[in-house]
Amino acid sequence: MKQKVTVFGSFVVDLMARTPHLPVPGETVRGSLFKQGAGGKGFNQGIAAHKAGGNVVMITKVGKDSMANVAYDAMDAVGLSKEYVFVNEEVGTGIALISVDENTSQNEIVIVPGACNTITDEDLAKVEEHIKSSAYVLVQLEVNQDANEKVAKIAKENGVRFIINTAPYQPMTDEFLRGAYLVTPNEVEAEEITGVPVKDLESADKAAKVFFEKGVENVLITLGSRGVYVATKERSEIIPCFKVQAVDTTGAGDAFNGGFLTALSEGKDLWEAARFAQALAAISVTRMGTTPAMPTREEIEAFLAERS
Ligand code: ATP
Ligand code: RIB
Repeated sequence: MKQKVTVFGSFVVDLMARTPHLPVPGETVRGSLFKQGAGGKGFNQGIAAHKAGGNVVMITKVGKDSMANVAYDAMDAVGLSKEYVFVNEEVGTGIALISVDENTSQNEIVIVPGACNTITDEDLAKVEEHIKSSAYVLVQLEVNQDANEKVAKIAKENGVRFIINTAPYQPMTDEFLRGAYLVTPNEVEAEEITGVPVKDLESADKAAKVFFEKGVENVLITLGSRGVYVATKERSEIIPCFKVQAVDTTGAGDAFNGGFLTALSEGKDLWEAARFAQALAAISVTRMGTTPAMPTREEIEAFLAERS
């Protein structure tokens, strides 16, 4: 059975350039390719979850400007409802300046969140019923944190499983973490939050213990091309990722989180969900861009069939 899920988070327009090397301060580098596309961690995760077959309610905010059309067009293209894309009449749609090294596929990102950093109580009142009736709610840390805290409160008070993708890192209260069903930091964020450098299973277990002590139910730490660490209080494991030829890993974490959410909503356990999400993420890193790189359900199924 497929349950309803809500993705609450940022939308920004990604302005991505590929370059022979990442510029050092003061340097101008001639890039080899420019791509504009829908981005923002929340939006990427919502699109990934929807394309993977999830029943997704996407909540975000844009400005009253032409950049907002990038969000509307991307949603129309995949048949995702625009009903809960709120509009700020004064603050423009956010943007992200992304440079990708064409040799190493490493990236550098500057994000100006703009309108998605202005989510109000009035906006939240319009989506409260959706949050309450979802099986899972997924947030990141790229919108105004007071709105995230309110969403957390509504979800937890109504027995909705609350998932926090702790990206990009910003300080958060213990209250925000307490009672979360799952946290999904990458290894850098895991260290920033717990103080434990995550290098292997043993150190990941130590970091997970800190999360458990803060009242989080389950912990998942993404480890880039090394795969993903998944832990309940009873069991933990590092699951290696699928081997592919990566061309752009920007948004790999978003692909993973979106895929994981859809898998959970279909009743898969954490381990099965991790495999599904890793397949989605592996396909996405073989393509350029963030939202445009997210595969369809058919592509994920074909990839899994081929690799099993
Ligand atoms: P980003 O901030 O760029 O979105 P992230 O740091 O949040 O990424 P990662 O840990 O880099 O997330 O990657 C998330 C998941 O994507 C990994 O757990 C893995 O499954 C998959 N992945 C990442 N890089 C690769 C790769 N080179 N090949 C295959 N899968 C990958
Ligand atoms: O995780 C990738 C995303 O982070 C990009 O789409 C960019 O918008 C930044 O927010």
